[in-house]
Amino acid sequence: MERESDFELAACFPASFLWGAATAAYQIEGATSEDGRGPSIWDVFSATPGKIHGGDTGDIAADHYHLMERDVELMANLGHGAYRFSIAWPRILPTGKGRANARGLDFYERLVDNLLERGITPVATLYHWDLPQTLQDDGGWLNRGTAQAFADYVEAVARRLGDRVTRWITLNEPWCAAYLGYGTGVHAPGASSMRAAVTAAHHLLLAHGLAVPCIRTLARPDAQVGITLNLTPVYAADGRDATLRAQRQADRFHNRWFLDPIFRGRYPAGLFGGLGVPPPAIESDDLAAIAAPIDFLGVNYYSRLLIRGNDGSGHQPRSGPYPDGQIVGPVPGSSYTGMGWEIYPEGLVDILLAVHHEYRPRAIAVTENGAAFDDVWNGGDVVRDARRLAYLREHVQAMAVALMLGVPVEGYFAWSLMDNFEWAEGYSRRFGMVYVDYPSQRRVVKDSGRWYAELLALHRAQRTRGDNSIAIVGTN
Ligand code: FCB
Repeated sequence: MERESDFELAACFPASFLWGAATAAYQIEGATSEDGRGPSIWDVFSATPGKIHGGDTGDIAADHYHLMERDVELMANLGHGAYRFSIAWPRILPTGKGRANARGLDFYERLVDNLLERGITPVATLYHWDLPQTLQDDGGWLNRGTAQAFADYVEAVARRLGDRVTRWITLNEPWCAAYLGYGTGVHAPGASSMRAAVTAAHHLLLAHGLAVPCIRTLARPDAQVGITLNLTPVYAADGRDATLRAQRQADRFHNRWFLDPIFRGRYPAGLFGGLGVPPPAIESDDLAAIAAPIDFLGVNYYSRLLIRGNDGSGHQPRSGPYPDGQIVGPVPGSSYTGMGWEIYPEGLVDILLAVHHEYRPRAIAVTENGAAFDDVWNGGDVVRDARRLAYLREHVQAMAVALMLGVPVEGYFAWSLMDNFEWAEGYSRRFGMVYVDYPSQRRVVKDSGRWYAELLALHRAQRTRGDNSIAIVGTN
């Protein structure tokens, strides 16, 4: 029965659809001081007592730097057609600037060649939060010069890999890099001021804007460039004015802060005032650069927010990014993942539709989606993770609905290929479709990973038989 419905599910996706999984350099590679890599803000942050759960660091992680070829083979065995990985800036430019480190480039060239040999499309993210520490010493993303330094780094990468990588993502989740890194201090570099977050966000956006033409000039003509945003649909718990106001505040903060400059060349009205800070210093050409046309938008989707407006009693605090309301939770009847995130697949349909109708990106890829749960491995070849399997299936179903409603979704990347260093949560949260036993670095495909491989096999089989091109044969 389930196989039958997976057959129908696979049939919803066009032949060219990209299926794969995503990872990020600092979360899987380890080898943080090998082959000339310089330190990043995450090395420094995770070495700071009290910042990461259990004092964990990315020093070894999933040891992917050494196990890369086996990991690519594993992806090939699972039938993945694409792989979204990130390139570590401090491997390419150990001090953030100057001459490129050939050994760093060599590693990613080997990775890309391995992928291409196995027919896996490489999707390269250029910044997944691992800023070289030397740039941080000069102010990090608070320093406008970091945007230009990023463009120089992108140039070095595009010169080496631009002849074979056709899909580029400039930044991963600049909202997290800016707000969690500079606004709340939960992520590296650990600053905590909203004013700093707003400045960092502007420089991240500028970095993206400077990188786009750089890739267009140096990479092959068919290369596609995009950016990945973490988007969160915001729902109103009731129809009161305060609730609707808070819903708008939250939507502006979580989604439009980045969508508006990228697609409309302006920040949303009321954003900075609502956050209680002055706008960042914006120079005359910045917004035009930030709005450089892109080929696709990457959407990372995990959960939604349900918001209820304050009741005016004065007991509720009027501060934070949405001063007129509060997040409602736990939502009665809802289930939650190990991160405490509500499972809400309909939210993926809604956010894809909203983005498509309001911003009209040429194409969309779901560049992350997944769930952490406490997996149990008994030493054998099996890891039962029925809840993750259900989460992934429901979200792929949601994506199929969005596709049927006309959203140009062209790819899906589960987060994550394998268990890894989950930032402030360290190794305590497992998101992988493949279990990693850290002491032995053994990989064990979880049930969710097996299910995903079966879905992809069904899609491939239909594709070769041409099952998903509907022909209406007339009779005479
Ligand atoms: C996203 C990050 C990714 C991972 C997942 C769970 O915000 O891009 O690195 O940590 O969350």
